[in-house]
Amino acid sequence: MEEDALIAAAQAYIREVFQNDYSGHDYFHSLRVFKTAERIAQQEAADRTVVQLAALLHDVDDRKLSPQTHAHKDRATAFLRAQGVCVRRIEAICTIIGEVSYSGTDSVVPETIEGKCVQDADRLDAIGAIGIARAFAYGGSHGRAIHDPEIKPRLQMSGEQYQRHISSSVNHFYEKLFNLAERMNTRSARQIAEHREQFMREYLREFLDEWEGLL
Ligand code: ADP
Ligand code: NI
Repeated sequence: MEEDALIAAAQAYIREVFQNDYSGHDYFHSLRVFKTAERIAQQEAADRTVVQLAALLHDVDDRKLSPQTHAHKDRATAFLRAQGVCVRRIEAICTIIGEVSYSGTDSVVPETIEGKCVQDADRLDAIGAIGIARAFAYGGSHGRAIHDPEIKPRLQMSGEQYQRHISSSVNHFYEKLFNLAERMNTRSARQIAEHREQFMREYLREFLDEWEGLL
């Protein structure tokens, strides 16, 4: 089927784009977002192809990874044009890619159900067991401490403050990760998020008890 070939091409494309990424944005992150977004979209009346493509391509024009293409989503657009995807869908996908990212109190709620599914899936991948691994991998790759009791978490940051803020990976749980469950757009994602958040809270309790020498 034509659609299957398009999805396979998008998977091959992101595999190439993210091949040397060890900052928590690897190929498998985008692949998990794709699978989770599909799972969430099954419960919603969503355009499946738009969800699949937006999920696979959501990080190719990321502000941190590809600052020069970020504003106009040049990489996603070039890929989709080359695949012969219609302009209407390209626009829908690029809008979603622009809405997905977490930027503190400046985060947006996507307009469409397709965008809501992709945003939920991306945020789900930042929490739970995998989210914990990604937070420490990201922190390490950006020269951040695992934990530093002297640096207090800063809550309620704007997008700009959030991007500039230097903190520890443990603080990231309070500054972002524990905010995500309540901000899920769809019911099925919120359910998954609550389970993952509980697990993270338990993990952090153990972590801090070990830190204090209580365990
Ligand atoms: P995405 O757009 O895929 O959500 P982000 O760039 O916001 O990705 O973050 C990538 C991963 O790194 C996520 O799991 C996120 O929680 C984690 N991360 C982002 N910022 C930090 C930070 N300051 N400290 C630790 N982990 C972080
Ligand atoms: Ni992502």
